[in-house]
Amino acid sequence: MTWDAAMRTAIELAHNGPATGVNPRVGCVIVDADGATISEGWHRGVGTAHAEVDALSKLGEGAARGATAVVTLEPCNHWGHTGPCSEALIEAGVSRVVYAVSDPGHSSGGGAERLREAGVEVIGGVLADEVESFLDDWLTAARLGRPHITLKWASSLDGRAAADDGTSTWITGAAARQRVHEQREASDAIVVGTGTVLADDPSLTARGDAGELMRTQPTPVVVGMRGVPKDAAIFRHPNPVIFEGTHDVHEVVADLHQRGFRRVYVEGGPTLASAFVEAGLVDEFAIYLAPTLLGGGRLALGDIGVGTIAEQRLLRIQSVEQLGADLLIRAVPEPSRESSQPSQNTEQSQREGN
Ligand SMILES: NC(=O)c1ccc[n+]([C@@H]2O[C@H](COP(=O)([O-])OP(=O)(O)OC[C@H]3O[C@@H](n4cnc5c(N)ncnc54)[C@H](OP(=O)(O)O)[C@@H]3O)[C@@H](O)[C@H]2O)c1
Repeated sequence: MTWDAAMRTAIELAHNGPATGVNPRVGCVIVDADGATISEGWHRGVGTAHAEVDALSKLGEGAARGATAVVTLEPCNHWGHTGPCSEALIEAGVSRVVYAVSDPGHSSGGGAERLREAGVEVIGGVLADEVESFLDDWLTAARLGRPHITLKWASSLDGRAAADDGTSTWITGAAARQRVHEQREASDAIVVGTGTVLADDPSLTARGDAGELMRTQPTPVVVGMRGVPKDAAIFRHPNPVIFEGTHDVHEVVADLHQRGFRRVYVEGGPTLASAFVEAGLVDEFAIYLAPTLLGGGRLALGDIGVGTIAEQRLLRIQSVEQLGADLLIRAVPEPSRESSQPSQNTEQSQREGN
């Protein structure tokens, strides 16, 4: 029997979970010995039942005996807010567990081994690529022990992020700006430098077409030593602003991870963006290119530590999309050029909020 169809359903179920926060989105389908689906479940966020337990809870006593649990992420093996899913599956009497991607967490991983020890057949890697791509941000955070970081900027075709007088609203058109709001909504935090707050007075909210606030709002984060005017628009953000009074981006990232942020969207400006690039702390670039020329010296990036061509930061383009008159280029660092070493935080539980 192939488990692809059940895994596809599990992936669809996983989409019901919250896109932000500490925990991954996970879906689970329970299939009986004849291949019929008898229950479905998904994880609704920190402190709530995991997908496997959610699916099991909808079944009567003994109904899962001999069944197969198809789940997008390896069942966890630790006590968080809830008990280990591996134990719940063993107790329910399932005879087989099929999963897509291994749990990279040091304390939450190991569920597959525990299940095998208890005599449950375990099959891993089913539709792994699809789930890897769906959980990309969360997996990066879990593997590296820091948030997944997207760096966004908007520039003219000649690579300028602002006109000579510092004005930059707006370089891109409405469709591109709307996409930025969607990307903000899918992030836990938006990070800017003090220079951007002082120049642009951004509100850093995620807004819809008509300017209305979207359901999920990222937390605004301002990096730098200077103060911000009391009447700055960020103070009207629904979430309290976090001020990081440092120029050390590693420190900023460690603090954001500590606060439970797993998806961070860095919106510049050029000074802060350059510091993130130089530190090798960018997992994805979202570059909005507008068909306009600005000239002058306000480049999208400044010094990123490239003194000679051999030190260039190579990227791999993942997609190019036209949004109105603008282009959105999504790119990732070529792995050989960026440090992908886990930080010391990797030892921590990666699903600590369970
Ligand atoms: N096109 C775009 O996508 C875009 C996006 C944002 C901004 N902008 C434009 O960019 C311009 C502002 O540029 P900017 O470079 O001044 O903005 P910025 O990067 O937001 O702010 C720079 C300031 O942040 C602080 N800072 C934080 N981390 C730092 C680090 N690692 N190294 C050095 N300084 C650090 C410093 O201020 P302290 O002295 O306070 O420490 C520094 O002066 C404006 O014209 C704005 O319109 C364009």
